[in-house]
Amino acid sequence: MATPTTTPATMRAVQYDACGGGAAGLKHVEVPVPSAKKNEVLLKLQAATINPVDWKIQKGDLRPLLPRRLPFIPVTDVAGVVVDVGPGVKGVTVGDQVVAMLNSFNGGGLAEYAVASANLTVKRPAEVSAAEGAGLPIAAGTALQALRSIGAKFDGTGKPLNVLVTAASGGVGLYAVQLAKLANLHVTATCGARNMDLVKSLGADEVMDYRTPEGASLQSPSGRKYDGVVHCTVGVSWSFFQPLLSDAGRVIDITPNLSAILTSALHRVTFSKKRLVPLLLSPNKADLEFLVGLLKEGKLKTVIDSKFPLSDAGKLVLPKNLHTDSGGEYLDVIIQTSHLCVCLLG
Ligand SMILES: NC(=O)c1ccc[n+]([C@@H]2O[C@H](COP(=O)([O-])OP(=O)(O)OC[C@H]3O[C@@H](n4cnc5c(N)ncnc54)[C@H](OP(=O)(O)O)[C@@H]3O)[C@@H](O)[C@H]2O)c1
Repeated sequence: MATPTTTPATMRAVQYDACGGGAAGLKHVEVPVPSAKKNEVLLKLQAATINPVDWKIQKGDLRPLLPRRLPFIPVTDVAGVVVDVGPGVKGVTVGDQVVAMLNSFNGGGLAEYAVASANLTVKRPAEVSAAEGAGLPIAAGTALQALRSIGAKFDGTGKPLNVLVTAASGGVGLYAVQLAKLANLHVTATCGARNMDLVKSLGADEVMDYRTPEGASLQSPSGRKYDGVVHCTVGVSWSFFQPLLSDAGRVIDITPNLSAILTSALHRVTFSKKRLVPLLLSPNKADLEFLVGLLKEGKLKTVIDSKFPLSDAGKLVLPKNLHTDSGGEYLDVIIQTSHLCVCLLG
């Protein structure tokens, strides 16, 4: 995309005025283009990725924290070109192609322009498409941090640990499988039958369909105990995981409920060797740069199921049909594989 010479006063965006109500609540609007303040950059967006958290916010699940204000333009994971920089910005300049994670409280990704903190904006090399880059911030960032919590190392110095990745066909899981292999780990993965070949093709050593008794048991077909679990789905208790773990095995739970948080606290105070560890992504530039670098080198892939123009985004953020197998947690359009990439056309 060519660098625009002038920024218009207004832009197209998709926003909602109230939580809940599904796609019907999403509106296509013309709103003022935001401006970059201190340490911020203004981006003309090329691609944005929708993550489960975006529709959780829309549903009102994260109230009163998010959305901070209404109307709200959702989505944080974007790629674009820098068209303006605020005071104090170093490292990126006008014309740079970048990947960025927008502030979760402000959202802003389903729009033609958005403001990002320079601290969470990294240059995108020509080898990495906007859509591939926009897949990274939340999903790959979480996968990376979960694997590090298990002890994965990416410099060749790590131990050959055994890991289980649940919901390996999801946004986080697909990156987790690939990153685990880059760290030389043995990967057992669970996913739906239709995605088993995909997950295998990304390097998983053992793949199980979670709807079969073997898959539901989560036991490694080769009898391995897990040194770590990147747990990306819901409804599996600590007592279920415990016998599957090695002596100091850890379950990194990225969707912890209250019981998981209490169990984790108990493990800490009792110095338990086996542990449940809740994880909330801590976004940072170094991780994003590392991940963009892996995409550039062809060591990591973003799996994109579908791309849609911004004009269709309203239909896709919250389709009416909820996938009920996981307690209504997953949307039909997202379960196709992982990310929806909403590409802005023209
Ligand atoms: N803590 C954090 O910072 C953080 C960060 C990112 C995400 N999350 C949360 O983590 C969860 C996963 O995120 P995601 O982006 O990876 O989700 P996603 O892309 O929506 O994942 C959906 C995938 O999970 C599979 N799946 C559903 N239930 C399963 C089960 N019981 N066993 C195995 N696979 C199952 C589905 O397979 P089928 O289609 O075949 O059913 C589908 O391919 C979400 O709740 C999200 O909000 C938390």
